[in-house]
Amino acid sequence: MGVLVDIRDVSKVYNPGENEVRALDHVTVTIEEGEYVAIIGQSGSGKSTLMNILGCLDVPTEGEYFLHGNDVKELDDDELSDIRNQEIGFIFQGFNLIANLTALENVELPLIYRGVGRTKRRELSEAALEKVGLGNRMDHKPSEMSGGQQQRVAIARAIAQAPPVILADEPTGNLDSHSTWEIMDILENLHGEGRTVIVITHNDEIAARADRVIKIMDGHVEQDSRRSPGEINEVSQGEDASQSEGATQSAGTTQSEGATQSAGTTQSEGASQGTGKTQGMGAAEESLTRPEMAEGEKKSENEE
Ligand SMILES: Nc1ncnc2c1ncn2[C@@H]1O[C@H](COP(=O)(O)OP(=O)(O)O)[C@@H](O)[C@H]1O
Ligand SMILES: [Mg+2]
Repeated sequence: MGVLVDIRDVSKVYNPGENEVRALDHVTVTIEEGEYVAIIGQSGSGKSTLMNILGCLDVPTEGEYFLHGNDVKELDDDELSDIRNQEIGFIFQGFNLIANLTALENVELPLIYRGVGRTKRRELSEAALEKVGLGNRMDHKPSEMSGGQQQRVAIARAIAQAPPVILADEPTGNLDSHSTWEIMDILENLHGEGRTVIVITHNDEIAARADRVIKIMDGHVEQDSRRSPGEINEVSQGEDASQSEGATQSAGTTQSEGATQSAGTTQSEGASQGTGKTQGMGAAEESLTRPEMAEGEKKSENEE
């Protein structure tokens, strides 16, 4: 498998000058094709900023980003747009569905923008909805679905054209525990099909399911650990290598995310969503329980 992401000494500074925020501070990371990576860190640590750069939604202030070996700063807007549309499936904390469209229409919408013909579009969208277990909900509007179902529609929209890379920023942040594990199962199935899955989270139960956990703190990589069956191997992170801890340490994981989703505003092509509005937080603080332990608290709206 080749190298997908090669980020070298990347920094991101918002509002340069007096009130500047150094959201990323000399981050160096490589991610191979086919990896399943969690990026974990507290609210404000720079996760979404990193995701926006990974997804070509934003550019670094300093440093270099090679995607599939291509220097991203050499790509023009059309090329960047093609990458976002064809290579990357974005999933956000807010589902960003269009309220007056059905599940099927929501999934189809970006395909219309991409010029996919009617028959093909329908075929791809139905297949994607089947894949996320919503074959029987295609005609439902978002208001007629639970949060977990809405996020599954958003995943179907992201994967309809089978992008090789899935970038998910707090995909379960607004969901109850049962829905959370359903969504994680779907993401893991996508990884099982050979896709690269990068999940951003502040929850270390979620992170612990990934094969590799990159911990971000104050805009830099604090730790980078790989899990191989039955053991945890530290990946050397230069000067940070001495600070070894287990892969699943508690990185302030119960904090609710207060940040607005800065990405929402720039990703017009793919998902046709509204702007980055502040997301409701309720479920983020819920202690997560595996589905088999959560039978009793299953909400009726989740039944299928
Ligand atoms: N568009 C922006 N303008 C100014 N500051 C920002 C912007 N986006 C994020 N930040 C700041 O950068 C830091 C990292 O934010 P973010 O990447 O959203 O963190 P996380 O996703 O880990 O919560 C925070 O201090 C945040 O307030
Ligand atoms: Mg964020």
